[in-house]
Amino acid sequence: MDRFHIVGGSPLRGEVKVSGSKNSALPILFSSLLGGGLVIGNVPSLRDIRTAFSLLSQLGIRAQPLSVNPEEHRENSSISSASEEWAGKYRLSEESVSAHEAPYDLVRTMRASVLCLGPLLAKRKRARVSLPGGCLIGARPVDIHLNAFVRMGAKISIDHGYIDAHTSGLSGCDIHLPYPTVTGTENILMAATLARGSTRIFNAAQEPEVSDLAISLNARGARIEGIGTSSLKVTGVENLIEASHTVMSDRIEAGTFLVAGALLGDRLTIHNVDVSCLDSLLITLREMGADFQEDHGSISISRILNPRGTSARTEPYPGFPTDMQAQILPIMAIAEGPSTVVETVFENRFTHVMEMNRMGANIDIHGSRAFVRGGAHLEGASVMASDLRASAGLVLAALIAKGESEIQRVYHIDRGYEKIETKLESIGARIKRIRGEEIS
Ligand code: UD1
Repeated sequence: MDRFHIVGGSPLRGEVKVSGSKNSALPILFSSLLGGGLVIGNVPSLRDIRTAFSLLSQLGIRAQPLSVNPEEHRENSSISSASEEWAGKYRLSEESVSAHEAPYDLVRTMRASVLCLGPLLAKRKRARVSLPGGCLIGARPVDIHLNAFVRMGAKISIDHGYIDAHTSGLSGCDIHLPYPTVTGTENILMAATLARGSTRIFNAAQEPEVSDLAISLNARGARIEGIGTSSLKVTGVENLIEASHTVMSDRIEAGTFLVAGALLGDRLTIHNVDVSCLDSLLITLREMGADFQEDHGSISISRILNPRGTSARTEPYPGFPTDMQAQILPIMAIAEGPSTVVETVFENRFTHVMEMNRMGANIDIHGSRAFVRGGAHLEGASVMASDLRASAGLVLAALIAKGESEIQRVYHIDRGYEKIETKLESIGARIKRIRGEEIS
């Protein structure tokens, strides 16, 4: 297993470009199961994206790279799961429509595989998808997805750890979500595009990635209204058609670089940022003393000289993103005065705190609250990454810590951050990847 070796304290300066959003690319890739074809650009090269391609290939979707890194140009070649460099633009088309199963070995490595359920049901009328199960950050059930599909006319049973769903044809209806689940909203949205009649989704997730999916579906002939609001209306259509869509930039990667800049920036400029998606993070960083310069999709930030403690409460969009909670803690740890973080989205998303405390942070967890004493002087240590965003938080902590750190299990970060160490190194961080085989 790879690990990162980081020497803390180097200022971060220069320019860095944010990649396409993983959480937007995934549902759009799975929407290719609705048929009609899709050209998708700005797809990041990530482990989760490779998993999605593997699953789609098993489900009869052919993905043809249209442009990748120039040195890797392989136009007209099919993707093989052994390929390392998948970035850029792809044409996805249905080659076969007979498969309908998402097996456990893929779903277990990526919970978002459940996003194939809605499109499979709508288009192929049958889906057998492994139940994702719990994960370190919480139980993460999919009951809201399943209840919606039942209301739309699917018959669903759970057998041997699999969701078995079939239908003679989905019908639109009114769906009131008890919680604005992100992948749940996306799954229902995809299913509703081909359902008979109209579907209204109330209390829908308003995350920008949901809107990006909806925009891509409308470009392909879907009829979705209310994009960006909590009430979506989908009028079912017979078929989708091929259209191109460019995946939005990754707001969580942008946010992670912003916090890095707030910690160590010497005028760090982050490009390819949709600043309008980052309001709650920018408010929190401003409360801590940050100052930004925005310029047409770019944002510059320098180190906050004396960061002040503040409070953050994770909530569905437009609230503070749970996916930025681990990354905001290192700056709270060194801030003057106490800070508080309340995690309302996932029940167990503080596994990184113990590791940060081993580096010298002073954070107490009481249920869903983290009390950060502030004023800490972090020191390098060997720490273990436990999930994707936790790893990013630990990398940030290591970047400001005195001395050397090792972050173990960085495969978590490879799921969602494209070339993170190359990008950080290019702006001055002292970070090296040590390949698994080099572990003694
Ligand atoms: C998505 C994101 C993830 C982010 C999360 C919250 C993707 C691929 N992943 O995950 O990065 O952290 O949104 O912003 O986009 N819940 C239920 N029943 C359900 C569905 C959800 O109880 O059927 C609960 C979950 O357990 C959790 C909460 O709702 O406590 C939010 O989950 P959800 O919005 O569904 O997160 P994901 O879509 O899995």
